Amino acid sequence: MIDKGLSSTKTTVMLATMLFAAIGNTGNVITYLLLHLEANPKWKVLVENEARQLYKDSRTSGRDDGRPLFSMNSIETQMPLFDICISETLRMLFKGPFIRRSVEDMFVDQKHIPRGTYVMFPTADLHYNAVFYSTPQEFNPEHFSADAIQERRRHGTTFVGWGAGRHMCAGRRAAQMLMKVIVILLLSQFDTHIVTDGGEPVRRVPEQVENQLFKVCPPKQAVTLRYEVRRQ
Ligand code: HEM
Repeated sequence: MIDKGLSSTKTTVMLATMLFAAIGNTGNVITYLLLHLEANPKWKVLVENEARQLYKDSRTSGRDDGRPLFSMNSIETQMPLFDICISETLRMLFKGPFIRRSVEDMFVDQKHIPRGTYVMFPTADLHYNAVFYSTPQEFNPEHFSADAIQERRRHGTTFVGWGAGRHMCAGRRAAQMLMKVIVILLLSQFDTHIVTDGGEPVRRVPEQVENQLFKVCPPKQAVTLRYEVRRQ
Protein backbone atom coordinates (compact mmCIF):
# COMPACT_ATOMS: atom_id res chain seq x y z
CA MET A 1 0.00 0.00 0.00
CA ILE A 2 2.84 2.33 0.88
CA ASP A 3 4.58 1.33 -2.38
CA LYS A 4 1.45 2.26 -4.28
CA GLY A 5 1.45 5.73 -2.74
CA LEU A 6 -1.62 5.36 -0.50
CA SER A 7 -1.85 8.01 2.21
CA SER A 8 -1.04 6.90 5.76
CA THR A 9 -4.72 7.46 6.72
CA LYS A 10 -5.92 5.10 3.99
CA THR A 11 -3.24 2.56 4.84
CA THR A 12 -4.22 2.67 8.53
CA VAL A 13 -7.93 2.31 7.73
CA MET A 14 -7.19 -0.66 5.46
CA LEU A 15 -5.02 -2.38 8.06
CA ALA A 16 -7.52 -1.77 10.87
CA THR A 17 -10.35 -3.11 8.69
CA MET A 18 -8.30 -6.19 7.88
CA LEU A 19 -7.65 -6.81 11.56
CA PHE A 20 -11.33 -6.44 12.46
CA ALA A 21 -12.37 -8.74 9.60
CA ALA A 22 -9.75 -11.25 10.60
CA ILE A 23 -10.35 -11.34 14.35
CA GLY A 24 -14.14 -10.94 14.22
CA ASN A 25 -14.76 -13.48 11.50
CA THR A 26 -12.27 -16.10 12.58
CA GLY A 27 -13.34 -16.01 16.25
CA ASN A 28 -17.02 -16.27 15.44
CA VAL A 29 -16.57 -18.96 12.79
CA ILE A 30 -14.54 -21.21 15.12
CA THR A 31 -17.17 -20.67 17.84
CA TYR A 32 -19.93 -21.81 15.47
CA LEU A 33 -17.86 -24.69 14.23
CA LEU A 34 -17.40 -25.97 17.79
CA LEU A 35 -21.13 -25.45 18.42
CA HIS A 36 -22.05 -27.51 15.36
CA LEU A 37 -19.67 -30.25 16.45
CA GLU A 38 -21.22 -30.24 19.92
CA ALA A 39 -24.68 -30.64 18.40
CA ASN A 40 -23.44 -33.35 16.00
CA PRO A 41 -21.44 -35.82 18.12
CA LYS A 42 -20.64 -38.08 15.17
CA TRP A 43 -18.71 -35.27 13.50
CA LYS A 44 -17.16 -34.19 16.76
CA VAL A 45 -15.61 -37.63 17.23
CA LEU A 46 -14.31 -37.65 13.65
CA VAL A 47 -12.70 -34.22 14.02
CA GLU A 48 -11.32 -35.09 17.46
CA ASN A 49 -9.67 -38.17 16.01
CA GLU A 50 -8.11 -36.16 13.20
CA ALA A 51 -6.80 -33.51 15.63
CA ARG A 52 -5.49 -36.09 18.09
CA GLN A 53 -3.69 -38.02 15.37
CA LEU A 54 -1.99 -34.87 14.10
CA TYR A 55 -0.98 -33.91 17.62
CA LYS A 56 0.40 -37.38 18.26
CA ASP A 57 2.40 -37.37 15.04
CA SER A 58 3.73 -33.87 15.74
CA ARG A 59 5.24 -34.84 19.08
CA THR A 60 7.41 -37.43 17.46
CA SER A 61 8.67 -35.15 14.73
CA GLY A 62 12.00 -34.18 16.18
CA ARG A 63 11.61 -31.40 18.75
CA ASP A 64 13.19 -32.19 22.08
CA ASP A 65 11.54 -29.62 24.39
CA GLY A 66 8.29 -31.60 24.40
CA ARG A 67 6.33 -28.85 22.63
CA PRO A 68 4.40 -29.84 19.52
CA LEU A 69 5.83 -29.10 16.12
CA PHE A 70 3.37 -28.99 13.25
CA SER A 71 4.32 -28.55 9.64
CA MET A 72 2.08 -26.24 7.63
CA ASN A 73 1.83 -28.97 5.07
CA SER A 74 0.50 -31.57 7.50
CA ILE A 75 -2.03 -29.12 8.93
CA GLU A 76 -3.22 -28.21 5.45
CA THR A 77 -3.43 -31.73 4.07
CA GLN A 78 -4.21 -34.03 6.98
CA MET A 79 -7.47 -32.62 8.25
CA PRO A 80 -9.87 -33.30 5.37
CA LEU A 81 -12.87 -33.84 7.66
CA PHE A 82 -12.22 -30.64 9.53
CA ASP A 83 -11.93 -28.85 6.15
CA ILE A 84 -15.41 -29.92 5.12
CA CYS A 85 -16.76 -28.98 8.56
CA ILE A 86 -15.36 -25.45 8.04
CA SER A 87 -17.03 -25.20 4.63
CA GLU A 88 -20.33 -26.46 6.02
CA THR A 89 -20.17 -24.01 8.93
CA LEU A 90 -19.54 -21.13 6.52
CA ARG A 91 -22.36 -22.28 4.27
CA MET A 92 -24.79 -22.13 7.18
CA LEU A 93 -23.44 -18.84 8.53
CA PHE A 94 -23.50 -16.88 5.29
CA LYS A 95 -27.09 -16.05 4.42
CA GLY A 96 -26.94 -12.26 4.34
CA PRO A 97 -26.18 -10.08 1.33
CA PHE A 98 -22.85 -9.25 -0.27
CA ILE A 99 -22.85 -5.63 -1.39
CA ARG A 100 -21.08 -4.12 -4.38
CA ARG A 101 -21.21 -0.86 -6.31
CA SER A 102 -20.91 -1.26 -10.04
CA VAL A 103 -17.93 0.66 -11.35
CA GLU A 104 -19.19 0.59 -14.93
CA ASP A 105 -22.42 0.27 -16.91
CA MET A 106 -23.26 -3.40 -17.13
CA PHE A 107 -25.97 -5.96 -17.87
CA VAL A 108 -26.84 -8.92 -15.65
CA ASP A 109 -29.40 -11.30 -17.16
CA GLN A 110 -30.27 -8.52 -19.62
CA LYS A 111 -31.04 -6.13 -16.79
CA HIS A 112 -29.23 -2.83 -17.09
CA ILE A 113 -27.17 -1.87 -14.03
CA PRO A 114 -26.03 1.73 -14.46
CA ARG A 115 -22.57 2.77 -13.26
CA GLY A 116 -22.56 3.68 -9.57
CA THR A 117 -25.52 1.44 -8.60
CA TYR A 118 -25.32 -0.51 -5.36
CA VAL A 119 -26.05 -4.18 -5.95
CA MET A 120 -26.85 -6.79 -3.29
CA PHE A 121 -26.38 -10.50 -3.73
CA PRO A 122 -28.38 -12.68 -1.30
CA THR A 123 -26.01 -15.49 -0.35
CA ALA A 124 -28.90 -17.57 1.04
CA ASP A 125 -30.05 -18.09 -2.57
CA LEU A 126 -26.99 -20.28 -2.96
CA HIS A 127 -26.27 -21.61 0.52
CA TYR A 128 -29.83 -22.56 1.43
CA ASN A 129 -30.84 -23.77 -2.00
CA ALA A 130 -31.98 -27.42 -2.02
CA VAL A 131 -30.92 -27.76 -5.66
CA PHE A 132 -27.29 -27.40 -4.57
CA TYR A 133 -27.36 -28.74 -1.00
CA SER A 134 -29.51 -31.80 -0.31
CA THR A 135 -30.41 -30.86 3.29
CA PRO A 136 -29.85 -27.10 3.42
CA GLN A 137 -31.21 -26.53 6.93
CA GLU A 138 -29.01 -29.23 8.48
CA PHE A 139 -25.35 -29.28 9.39
CA ASN A 140 -24.13 -31.94 7.01
CA PRO A 141 -20.45 -31.73 6.03
CA GLU A 142 -21.14 -34.38 3.34
CA HIS A 143 -22.42 -31.40 1.33
CA PHE A 144 -18.71 -30.81 0.70
CA SER A 145 -17.62 -34.35 -0.10
CA ALA A 146 -15.57 -34.63 -3.30
CA ASP A 147 -18.59 -36.15 -5.11
CA ALA A 148 -20.98 -33.43 -3.96
CA ILE A 149 -18.56 -30.69 -5.04
CA GLN A 150 -18.09 -32.36 -8.41
CA GLU A 151 -21.85 -32.67 -8.88
CA ARG A 152 -22.37 -28.95 -8.14
CA ARG A 153 -19.65 -27.83 -10.53
CA ARG A 154 -22.03 -27.70 -13.49
CA HIS A 155 -24.04 -24.97 -11.71
CA GLY A 156 -21.07 -22.58 -11.54
CA THR A 157 -20.54 -20.73 -8.25
CA THR A 158 -22.59 -22.27 -5.46
CA PHE A 159 -20.48 -21.45 -2.40
CA VAL A 160 -19.30 -18.00 -1.33
CA GLY A 161 -18.16 -18.62 2.24
CA TRP A 162 -14.82 -17.04 1.34
CA GLY A 163 -16.31 -14.68 -1.24
CA ALA A 164 -15.84 -15.17 -4.97
CA GLY A 165 -14.05 -13.66 -7.91
CA ARG A 166 -11.52 -10.87 -7.67
CA HIS A 167 -12.24 -9.93 -4.07
CA MET A 168 -12.22 -13.34 -2.44
CA CYS A 169 -10.92 -13.49 1.12
CA ALA A 170 -7.25 -12.59 1.15
CA GLY A 171 -6.79 -14.21 4.57
CA ARG A 172 -8.35 -17.59 3.87
CA ARG A 173 -5.20 -19.64 4.37
CA ALA A 174 -4.26 -17.77 7.52
CA ALA A 175 -7.78 -18.15 8.93
CA GLN A 176 -7.92 -21.87 8.16
CA MET A 177 -4.51 -22.40 9.68
CA LEU A 178 -5.45 -20.51 12.83
CA MET A 179 -8.72 -22.42 13.28
CA LYS A 180 -6.95 -25.73 12.77
CA VAL A 181 -4.20 -24.98 15.28
CA ILE A 182 -6.84 -23.96 17.85
CA VAL A 183 -8.79 -27.17 17.25
CA ILE A 184 -5.72 -29.42 17.30
CA LEU A 185 -4.43 -27.98 20.59
CA LEU A 186 -7.87 -27.88 22.19
CA LEU A 187 -9.36 -31.20 21.19
CA SER A 188 -6.19 -33.23 21.52
CA GLN A 189 -5.55 -32.27 25.14
CA PHE A 190 -8.95 -31.52 26.60
CA ASP A 191 -12.39 -33.06 26.74
CA THR A 192 -14.63 -30.17 25.79
CA HIS A 193 -18.31 -29.37 25.99
CA ILE A 194 -20.14 -26.21 25.12
CA VAL A 195 -22.69 -25.30 27.75
CA THR A 196 -25.26 -22.59 28.41
CA ASP A 197 -24.86 -20.01 31.17
CA GLY A 198 -26.68 -22.41 33.45
CA GLY A 199 -24.21 -25.21 32.67
CA GLU A 200 -26.62 -27.22 30.48
CA PRO A 201 -25.12 -28.86 27.35
CA VAL A 202 -25.93 -26.95 24.15
CA ARG A 203 -27.99 -29.28 21.99
CA ARG A 204 -29.25 -26.74 19.46
CA VAL A 205 -26.92 -24.30 17.76
CA PRO A 206 -28.03 -20.78 18.78
CA GLU A 207 -29.05 -18.26 16.14
CA GLN A 208 -26.66 -15.51 15.13
CA VAL A 209 -27.05 -11.90 16.17
CA GLU A 210 -28.01 -10.25 12.89
CA ASN A 211 -27.13 -6.59 13.25
CA GLN A 212 -24.10 -6.52 10.98
CA LEU A 213 -23.90 -7.07 7.25
CA PHE A 214 -20.17 -7.12 6.98
CA LYS A 215 -19.02 -9.81 9.31
CA VAL A 216 -19.96 -13.13 10.83
CA CYS A 217 -21.86 -12.28 14.02
CA PRO A 218 -21.67 -14.06 17.40
CA PRO A 219 -24.45 -16.27 18.84
CA LYS A 220 -27.49 -14.52 20.38
CA GLN A 221 -27.34 -16.76 23.41
CA ALA A 222 -24.22 -16.70 25.60
CA VAL A 223 -22.32 -19.98 25.55
CA THR A 224 -19.35 -21.24 27.55
CA LEU A 225 -16.65 -23.73 26.72
CA ARG A 226 -16.25 -26.27 29.52
CA TYR A 227 -13.06 -28.27 29.38
CA GLU A 228 -11.07 -30.70 31.44
CA VAL A 229 -7.66 -32.20 30.85
CA ARG A 230 -8.04 -35.37 28.87
CA ARG A 231 -7.02 -38.63 30.46
CA GLN A 232 -4.93 -40.30 27.76
C1 HEM B 1 -13.00 -17.59 9.06
C2 HEM B 1 -12.52 -16.38 8.85
C3 HEM B 1 -12.83 -15.55 7.64
C4 HEM B 1 -13.92 -15.56 6.81
C5 HEM B 1 -15.15 -16.46 6.87
C6 HEM B 1 -13.71 -14.56 5.79
C7 HEM B 1 -14.59 -14.29 4.76
C8 HEM B 1 -14.38 -13.32 3.80
C9 HEM B 1 -15.31 -13.04 2.73
C10 HEM B 1 -16.65 -13.74 2.49
C11 HEM B 1 -14.77 -12.04 1.98
C12 HEM B 1 -15.38 -11.40 0.73
C13 HEM B 1 -16.36 -10.30 1.13
C14 HEM B 1 -17.07 -9.71 -0.06
O1 HEM B 1 -16.90 -10.17 -1.17
O2 HEM B 1 -17.82 -8.75 0.14
C15 HEM B 1 -13.52 -11.69 2.60
C16 HEM B 1 -12.66 -10.70 2.13
C17 HEM B 1 -11.48 -10.38 2.73
N1 HEM B 1 -10.89 -11.00 3.82
FE1 HEM B 1 -11.65 -12.53 4.88
N2 HEM B 1 -12.50 -13.95 6.03
C18 HEM B 1 -11.93 -14.53 7.15
C19 HEM B 1 -10.70 -14.23 7.72
C20 HEM B 1 -9.82 -13.30 7.22
C21 HEM B 1 -8.48 -13.07 7.73
C22 HEM B 1 -7.82 -13.84 8.88
C23 HEM B 1 -7.97 -12.04 7.02
C24 HEM B 1 -6.63 -11.35 7.10
C25 HEM B 1 -5.56 -11.88 7.66
C26 HEM B 1 -8.96 -11.66 6.01
C27 HEM B 1 -8.79 -10.67 5.08
C28 HEM B 1 -9.69 -10.36 4.08
C29 HEM B 1 -9.50 -9.30 3.12
C30 HEM B 1 -8.29 -8.34 3.04
C31 HEM B 1 -10.62 -9.29 2.28
C32 HEM B 1 -10.92 -8.36 1.12
C33 HEM B 1 -10.32 -8.89 -0.16
C34 HEM B 1 -10.58 -7.94 -1.32
O3 HEM B 1 -11.47 -7.08 -1.23
O4 HEM B 1 -9.91 -8.09 -2.35
N3 HEM B 1 -10.06 -12.46 6.16
N4 HEM B 1 -13.29 -12.49 3.69
